[in-house]
Amino acid sequence: MRVALVRHVPETFAECLRSEAPPVPIDVARARAQHAAYVGALRARFERVVELPADPRFPDCCFVEDTAVIVGARALVSRPGAPERRGEEVAVRPALEALGLACLAMSAPATLDGGDVLVLGDEIFVGRSRRTNAEGIAQLCAAFPERRVHEVLVARGLHLKSSVTAVGERTIVVATGAEAVAAAIARALPEIRALFVPDVRVANALWLGDDLLHLSGYPASREILARAGRRLVPIEASELEKADGGLTCLSLRVP
Ligand code: GLY
Repeated sequence: MRVALVRHVPETFAECLRSEAPPVPIDVARARAQHAAYVGALRARFERVVELPADPRFPDCCFVEDTAVIVGARALVSRPGAPERRGEEVAVRPALEALGLACLAMSAPATLDGGDVLVLGDEIFVGRSRRTNAEGIAQLCAAFPERRVHEVLVARGLHLKSSVTAVGERTIVVATGAEAVAAAIARALPEIRALFVPDVRVANALWLGDDLLHLSGYPASREILARAGRRLVPIEASELEKADGGLTCLSLRVP
């Protein structure tokens, strides 16, 4: 990976979408500090990190991964599933084009969040979720006709990558309880190895070469993640977690 794209945390972040109200309200200043540390971790591992300014009209805009799917030299700019988030993608598209990516747009009634798309080698797995519908999946298939696209039902959680991410060429980390998701992936990739972690949030890890960025504060899951054979890099993101955020959704990575 050469370039990563991130978007800053807006001052309206506490108004973000979330599955449940956190017992302790979101601390926006702390969220920004945690985001800055995340960006620092990317800077140490990418040739370049493009930073887009926050847009206070979109409290969730720091979850920039949801706005596009990048495969090779092409990006499908999404039509986010949550109406409140539609429009976040407008500022992302020119940034992707400036990086040399050929951008494709989605059209209604299709919806798709990038958090529902997991690329594993030549295969693309896409979650059919509250955010990504059948038309969105059809437009994803049309955007990347050279790839096989496998639909996976997301019965729990926000996105597909809320419960599974890649931590190696043929290794995934999966939240305990998401066995059906792991089984769907294994049907397409029988050689896949799944590491099941008890803490669902740790199933969203960011694999960057020899390093594996993971949420700090979950020792039992960390012990299991160590089996991936990567250098574990803990990232504190308590305030972003309150917004159902994970480590992949805070950036777009350009291969
Ligand atoms: N808070 C992230 C989302 O709901 O999209």
